[in-house]
Amino acid sequence: MINDVQSIAKSFFSNRNAASYDRIVKYTTFGKDSLWKQNIANYITPEHKYILDIACGTGIFSSFISNIPYKDLIGVDLTYSYISNAKAKRGYSLLVNSMAELLPFKSESFDCIVSCYLAKYAKISLMVDEIWRLLKKGGLVIFNDFVYPLNKIMRLLWNSYFNILKLSGQIIKSWKYVFYNLDEVIKRSTWTKDLQIALEKKGFRSLDVKYYTGGTSAIISAFKI
Ligand SMILES: C[S@@+](CC[C@H](N)C(=O)[O-])C[C@H]1O[C@@H](n2cnc3c(N)ncnc32)[C@H](O)[C@@H]1O
Repeated sequence: MINDVQSIAKSFFSNRNAASYDRIVKYTTFGKDSLWKQNIANYITPEHKYILDIACGTGIFSSFISNIPYKDLIGVDLTYSYISNAKAKRGYSLLVNSMAELLPFKSESFDCIVSCYLAKYAKISLMVDEIWRLLKKGGLVIFNDFVYPLNKIMRLLWNSYFNILKLSGQIIKSWKYVFYNLDEVIKRSTWTKDLQIALEKKGFRSLDVKYYTGGTSAIISAFKI
């Protein structure tokens, strides 16, 4: 399997599977994706007027903040076909085909930056530099991604689940490569530790780490003070 994180992302996400992404994420997480996104949305307040969604994908997150009176929600993603699908959601005022590590926006443009399922594919320290630059003082950053659970029983269940997912890749061909390799990507990833270190080193404060769904998902938030 490919080692470089960005090459992994490119091999996983393409026009082959963009159209079916929303259904796949819903069913493969047993609907927990909505729970995790709702938890991220709960951090966002009416003071957060300018919001950036890094690796917005097909734009699922936008529907979770439809009741918040923000001014602009901007989405950025590496994969053009995913952004094309995000257009249909109509929640974003702007969608940009760009990388998390080099973001084409003016410094101190955003009150809040969110990102779901990106951290394990990103070059964390470059991305944190960009997030620091783009956030206004007092700005909030929130990350969510999968983690390999620590608990032994959860690990057994998690590994069994991925075996089933691999089998279903025989039927859902457009997701076969992802279903075969995602478990290794998650197991190898040290994103929770790397992100906390990078955020603290950069100067972010009030770091908060929460685990969900038996330790299979984490949300990390912090403020630019
Ligand atoms: C699993 S999808 C998540 C999409 C969306 N955030 C969600 O929660 O449904 C991962 C997304 O990350 C994007 N991605 C991966 N690496 C990236 C990078 N370095 N910069 C920007 N986007 C990236 C992929 O193109 C893909 O759309």
